[in-house]
Amino acid sequence: LKGGKAQSSGRGDVPEMERADKEVSVAAMKEYYKQFDPRSYLRYNYIPPRADFTRTDSIVPWKLSCLHLIVFHAIGDVHGRTLIDIGSGPTIYQLLSACEHFSNIIMTDFLEVNRQEIRRWLHGEPDTFDWTAFLQHACELEGKGCSWPEKAKRLRTAIHDVIPIDVHSPNPLHPYSLPELADCLVSSFCLEAVSPDRTSFQKALTNLGTLLKPNGHFLMIGALDESYYQVADGVHIPVVPVDQEFVSATLKSCGYEICTFQCYTLPQDMKVGVDDVAGIFFVKAKKK
Ligand SMILES: C[S@@+](CC[C@H](N)C(=O)[O-])C[C@H]1O[C@@H](n2cnc3c(N)ncnc32)[C@H](O)[C@@H]1O
Repeated sequence: LKGGKAQSSGRGDVPEMERADKEVSVAAMKEYYKQFDPRSYLRYNYIPPRADFTRTDSIVPWKLSCLHLIVFHAIGDVHGRTLIDIGSGPTIYQLLSACEHFSNIIMTDFLEVNRQEIRRWLHGEPDTFDWTAFLQHACELEGKGCSWPEKAKRLRTAIHDVIPIDVHSPNPLHPYSLPELADCLVSSFCLEAVSPDRTSFQKALTNLGTLLKPNGHFLMIGALDESYYQVADGVHIPVVPVDQEFVSATLKSCGYEICTFQCYTLPQDMKVGVDDVAGIFFVKAKKK
């Protein structure tokens, strides 16, 4: 770690080196995130081919259909009032289905630049990322004839706050005091991307457990076997590689029962040179 900066001369080579030297700490991860550029991140991950709604094997349609199925079908037990989205980043797609069942959604991120990007979308400011195709796709999955502007309005109405979070803190939302524990936590691509190692991942999961009611659900989406991802042009951040076995065991050790675990393998043409992710997992877990 040179001067606290993530560097990249190629495909994730510096992060790998650092991991081998055991030099990556929670503090170093936080330092790396100073270079996160929301607009670049959105461009790398949320345009075709990764967000191609004409294909069911594209990453984003796969994630949206998992979230839709869990919230609208399955046993129908994912509901309540308060939902906290952990490490929201600059994205809103992860809440498109949930906003139909939770009236009090709290979005969170470690970085003010990401919270600002969300607030700009909430306020309908011009020149924000165009989520229209995502909104349309969620409406099509629901099949109730809802138009995308109505969906956007419903989501904006359900989101009550956008606040700071640090998953590595025993009190992750400090100094915010939560009026009531959450009925559901959602998190997409956060824990593995902000933890220097598996021990920190597990501690972060323990910290997040303090925000959730007993019998509440944790819907987690994450990267499988990833060692780095790009957060700005030429800047790579290390990711702790995880697999299904580790994620399941960690959730169980933190007091969760696994309800559903699904995995997606990245088609070759989704490998667009911004990370080395091999696949994606989606897990629905229930806090005992
Ligand atoms: C890979 S992005 C995921 C963004 C979004 N949820 C998505 O699905 O694309 C990881 C996010 O974790 C946030 N983050 C970084 N450090 C964090 C920390 N210590 N606690 C919580 N979130 C953190 C970053 O700012 C970033 O927005």
